[in-house]
Amino acid sequence: MEIIRSAGEMQSHAEKIRSSGKRIGVVPTMGYFHEGHTSLIRIARERCDVVVTTIFVNPAQFGTGEDFEQYPRDFERDKALAEEGGTDVIFAPDAEEMYPPGFGTFVVPEDGASILEGQVRPSHFRGVVTVVVKLFHLTKPHIAVFGQKDAQQVFVVRRMIRDLNFDIDLVVAPTIREQDGLAKSSRNLYLTAAERAEAPLLYQALKEAESLAALGERKAEKIRAAVSEVLQRAKLATADYVAVVDPETFREVGELHPPLALVAVAVRFGSARLIDNILISVSSKG
Ligand code: PAF
Repeated sequence: MEIIRSAGEMQSHAEKIRSSGKRIGVVPTMGYFHEGHTSLIRIARERCDVVVTTIFVNPAQFGTGEDFEQYPRDFERDKALAEEGGTDVIFAPDAEEMYPPGFGTFVVPEDGASILEGQVRPSHFRGVVTVVVKLFHLTKPHIAVFGQKDAQQVFVVRRMIRDLNFDIDLVVAPTIREQDGLAKSSRNLYLTAAERAEAPLLYQALKEAESLAALGERKAEKIRAAVSEVLQRAKLATADYVAVVDPETFREVGELHPPLALVAVAVRFGSARLIDNILISVSSKG
């Protein structure tokens, strides 16, 4: 496995791989790997000749007062897990390499990026999309693998790929969960033992939405109320939002429509902000 830190070197290496007719799969990450990340690496491994895993805690997607400084980092551990998962190249630039002095160009997503995560974290998706565009230019992938846990990020990146004519297939991998349903996340580390005990309520709340929809409930308001009721059992948490959106547009809906609705939640437990979502199949019969 190679480790590349320079943007120029990454780009010329990717160009050589492409010219030799090999397919590149990129897995963009901020490191501190858990099974969610390694599942993305394995998916890229199955579909491509060369897997590039990027590790970069992107300052541009953190707002003032957010957890950029505290964000967990462990390069040696990540290196071992990346290699075990089948990574060929780790691209791990530092902030100066990605944003050199004088950097002044950002890619700003519009509609759908200003609600939910975008409302709570106003410059977040501008930072995400900008870094993803840069990572795509540097790693020249045929496919890019992202996790469904960040459903709004998937929406924003998919639309950017389409709008900016990137010739890249986006592969979305399912959320990996702990046994009790809590979605794996590097930020779970911030939870105290008491908060960790309550955290599975996020998934239980989402499953409640799924059950209601399966019983025929179509009113988003009723689904949101049922999800909020379950979340209120988490005494140490406050909900940032509970939303029912059309996953194609990321607009909030009044009613669930076939084929799919997405229920998304964000909850704060002290310093930990957790997000999760569930895609619900909506049949036309109701
Ligand atoms: O999902 C993440 O870890 C980050 O948002 C990403 C896509 C690596 C961009 O920094």
